[in-house]
Amino acid sequence: MTLINDGIAPHGGTLIDRLVSEEQKAEFLSKADFLPQVTLDDRALSDLVMIAIGGFSPLNGFMGQADYEPVVTDMRLASGLPWAVPVTLSVSEAVAAPLKEGMLVRLNDKTGRYVGVLELTEKYTYDKQKEAVNVYRTGEDKHPGVKVIYEQGPVNLAGPVWLLERDPHPLFPNYQIDPAASRAMFRERGWKTVVGFQTRNPIHRAHEYIQKCALETVDGLFLHPLVGATKKDDIPADVRMRCYEIMMDRYFPQDRVILAINPSAMRYAGPREAIFHALIRKNYGCTHFIVGRDHAGVGDYYGTYDAQHIFDQFEPGELGITPMKFEHAFYCTRTGTMATSKTSPSTKEERIHLSGTKVREMLRRGELPPPEFSRPEVAAELSRAMQVQS
Ligand code: ADX
Repeated sequence: MTLINDGIAPHGGTLIDRLVSEEQKAEFLSKADFLPQVTLDDRALSDLVMIAIGGFSPLNGFMGQADYEPVVTDMRLASGLPWAVPVTLSVSEAVAAPLKEGMLVRLNDKTGRYVGVLELTEKYTYDKQKEAVNVYRTGEDKHPGVKVIYEQGPVNLAGPVWLLERDPHPLFPNYQIDPAASRAMFRERGWKTVVGFQTRNPIHRAHEYIQKCALETVDGLFLHPLVGATKKDDIPADVRMRCYEIMMDRYFPQDRVILAINPSAMRYAGPREAIFHALIRKNYGCTHFIVGRDHAGVGDYYGTYDAQHIFDQFEPGELGITPMKFEHAFYCTRTGTMATSKTSPSTKEERIHLSGTKVREMLRRGELPPPEFSRPEVAAELSRAMQVQS
């Protein structure tokens, strides 16, 4: 484990590092054929990586029941530290049955590759409905995050984990900047205050507007698109990253902005996920975190600003990262600028904003979203990607 003494403290005070040493790796590899094996789905695999690189500090493994229960009911770990979303390894009864507490378990990815080890400290069953209703605010299986819970196994395997290898990302190796590295970059650049930006959608002008409004008041902007599992109809990560590259080249000051990937999977837990996203960015070294309209929301499960209000449930300073809250942003035809209702006197008719669904429909019809909504180069890239796809 590495102790970071400067910059903002990681959540819980210590940046977790669960990448095996060469010595440990040799030992784990020598046991490869003798350990019981569990296959990780995409989400569990990205959770393993996030734990190992410290993105989920203070977690050093998949949650045991003592942490899981208060996280579900009260947004707190057993230690009392805030934590909003369960990080669990859920398996079927058949997979769990032969596993005994105290065993080392070999963790494989979906191709059967040996990627990590779990020291099994506990197996426990859990209440799926309770998790759904508490964390996602709905028990409906139409909700993509809830659907995952209902489809996953009924037994959680818990305990500390190790990652055997930190592979360069197959698509975005240059943007794979793990928490220790981002912290070092912020330090080198002398940034005392850094605002993190979570996103799973292609960048549009409202994003750019709130990013830049935030950047006006801090030293640096950490653009941190999520590239882990998303729902099928979301725009793929490679397309989104190309849009970000275009923006970095043309529209952002290079010395004030860092683009990096966030390997985690999307949960679509709205308000709860906003807290989770903020704590992850704290671990990457951010002091501030942008929360706009319907952050991490899906459908109409959450109120437009629920993901902002949830921050009020914590004492000031308790989370250790400051949310920067933004109202719904749009292009205002009266003032000829991007704005929100805080800064623009416009009527509804004078506001240009399109939903993600609408944009996808336009692109499918071969139409480009207007320059008031999307930078033309980004619109062109999205259109190109859509044609390749169809
Ligand atoms: S999210 O699921 O990752 O939240 P998205 O990539 O669309 O989805 O949003 C990234 C961030 O930008 C979130 O904080 C979201 O609230 C904010 N955001 C998106 N669109 C707008 C908008 N028009 N006005 C204000 N904030 C927005």
